[in-house]
Amino acid sequence: MKIIHNYSLLHHNTFGIDARAACFVEYETPEELVNFLVSGINESRLPLLCIGGGSNLLFTSDYRGTVLHSAIKGYEVVNETSEYVDVCVGSGEKWDDVVAYAVSNKWYGAENLSFIPGEVGASAVQNIGAYGVEVKDLIVSVSAVCVSDGTSRTFTNEECCYAYRESVFKKELKGQYIITDVTYRFSKKAKWNLDYGNIRTELAAMEGSLTLESLREVIRRIRERKLPDPVQIGNAGSFFMNPIIQKTQYDDLCGSYPDMPCYPVCENKVKIPAGWMIDRCGWKGKTIGRVGVHEHQALVLVNRGGATGKEVMDLAALIAASVFDKFGIMIYPEVNYI
Ligand code: EPU
Repeated sequence: MKIIHNYSLLHHNTFGIDARAACFVEYETPEELVNFLVSGINESRLPLLCIGGGSNLLFTSDYRGTVLHSAIKGYEVVNETSEYVDVCVGSGEKWDDVVAYAVSNKWYGAENLSFIPGEVGASAVQNIGAYGVEVKDLIVSVSAVCVSDGTSRTFTNEECCYAYRESVFKKELKGQYIITDVTYRFSKKAKWNLDYGNIRTELAAMEGSLTLESLREVIRRIRERKLPDPVQIGNAGSFFMNPIIQKTQYDDLCGSYPDMPCYPVCENKVKIPAGWMIDRCGWKGKTIGRVGVHEHQALVLVNRGGATGKEVMDLAALIAASVFDKFGIMIYPEVNYI
């Protein structure tokens, strides 16, 4: 187990914010984690924050507590039939390595979630999603350790209470459990999700037949065009969630904005792309000091170099206020403020 005091988090958040943690702890096994939680090591009783790849976080100041990071690795096939395979993966593995592993084994389900930054533990907290698939569609169960007494618990998919970018780990049980591994179910039978956006058009433009690899390549191309690479420019992907509103409110707005896109959620609710509204407010490509809005996707806020978390947060507040003024819709960050 690694324990480091006064630790820079610069390489643990894709926004590239140089915040510091009073203490940083990295564990390689669930036992090490339990030992840390129940032994006297955390004597100072500092607050705890569990992070994954830091691709969905915004440090608004230094963290005066202990940042915990999982380095639990490994893949294990725990159940297999002629139809599917269940694989238990350590929470510290990179999510996209899981996708690559499934694709190389010709297992279906994860390919639309290619190239999403972050780690396995966070994938299950955040219910990451893209191109018509959410990770909840693959999760069988999630194992976690209780922060207060170090006991282990396995949550079924249902017990995780998944919804759009939501889970029990972000709500009722926030801060109470630390995920040690996640079991995903991949299908051995072809099961394509090709209806989102321009996937079909992109596929048609590519030579050759439809394979897991070619779909992964299409997703790479679509993402590269719209989403900045955090290695080159600090960002956390979509900064805001797409708001869900009443269909009646949407119908009213369509009077003024007939081209306003929406995705159906249920009979009387729709999801509106926040990026479209932010774009319509004129924010795309704008820069204020050291922060800005990405040129190709208005939903992504960027650190143009050396920004503080506070500067990003202030820009986000200005954007949310202007969206509310124009459309009467509140937008909320998908990124977690720390
Ligand atoms: N749009 C604009 N201008 C923009 C951005 C978007 O007009 O600057 C319009 C697009 O033309 C399209 C609509 O808004 O009609 C939706 O845009 P897009 O398909 O790019 O998807 P999104 O709603 O912006 C969501 C997820 C992404 C995910 C994509 C693809 C959220 C908050 N974001 O973005 O997730 O990759 O769909 O499925 O749900 C992430 O969570 O970090 C993330 C990148």
